[in-house]
Amino acid sequence: MPNKIIAANWKLNKTPNEAKGFLDEFLKALETRFEKNVFIFPTTLALHEVSRCLKGRDILFGPQNFSEVREGAFTGETSLLHAKVLGAKTALVGHSERRILFGETDELAAKKIRLASELGIEPILCVGETLKEREGKKTLEVIARQLAVGLKDWPKDKNVIIAYEPVWAIGTGVVASVQQIDEAHKALRNELIKIMPKLGHEVPILYGGSVKPDNANELISCPEVNGFLVGGASLKVNDFLGIIKTVLQKGS
Ligand code: PGA
Repeated sequence: MPNKIIAANWKLNKTPNEAKGFLDEFLKALETRFEKNVFIFPTTLALHEVSRCLKGRDILFGPQNFSEVREGAFTGETSLLHAKVLGAKTALVGHSERRILFGETDELAAKKIRLASELGIEPILCVGETLKEREGKKTLEVIARQLAVGLKDWPKDKNVIIAYEPVWAIGTGVVASVQQIDEAHKALRNELIKIMPKLGHEVPILYGGSVKPDNANELISCPEVNGFLVGGASLKVNDFLGIIKTVLQKGS
């Protein structure tokens, strides 16, 4: 597992053709030694094209969401097993847009994490508080709960990735301060060590929420920030490359 990860969450953007256009340009410009640090989360319908473009490369990709069941009579769902057949090695779980817009619970996240473990997929579990929860001084309690429930069936001796994404900082241009990030990441680290005594120290904790090329340098200086989950700024090749270079040229 690389010690710094920069993940692109394309959300509901980029047709398969646009994904190919992005990757053609991106792969030409990205230094090969940085590939293993980069993850791409395209739309479900673009997974196949992304899989073709990344064949033989070290960049990991996966779905942004999937059903907690493998296969069966579940009309309209996305199968993690099928994504795996396409070459997915990772997947997002519990992104705040899933939680808030689609009513996903901690329990559902736990079921998805369990399926990922059964299929040998290394997920990124997303946690983060809403503005109301922060103002009610509930941040640490909320993220600790999301983490503990989400990971309850994840094997304690297997690595996993966490993304801390304060909901009020996602897509808003408002970035959490270094102090706020530091506090949340330290709390998550302590919880991880309790949950997974052996591996808790090494589980990467990414920050997400309005990360841009011009704030990446400051944010990556937080000792507990092991990389980023990037939404808006991952849609443009130059912005995403700028963030990657800032993180990786710091000597990881
Ligand atoms: P943003 O999204 O970078 O556009 O704020 C981050 C995310 O939702 O993962």
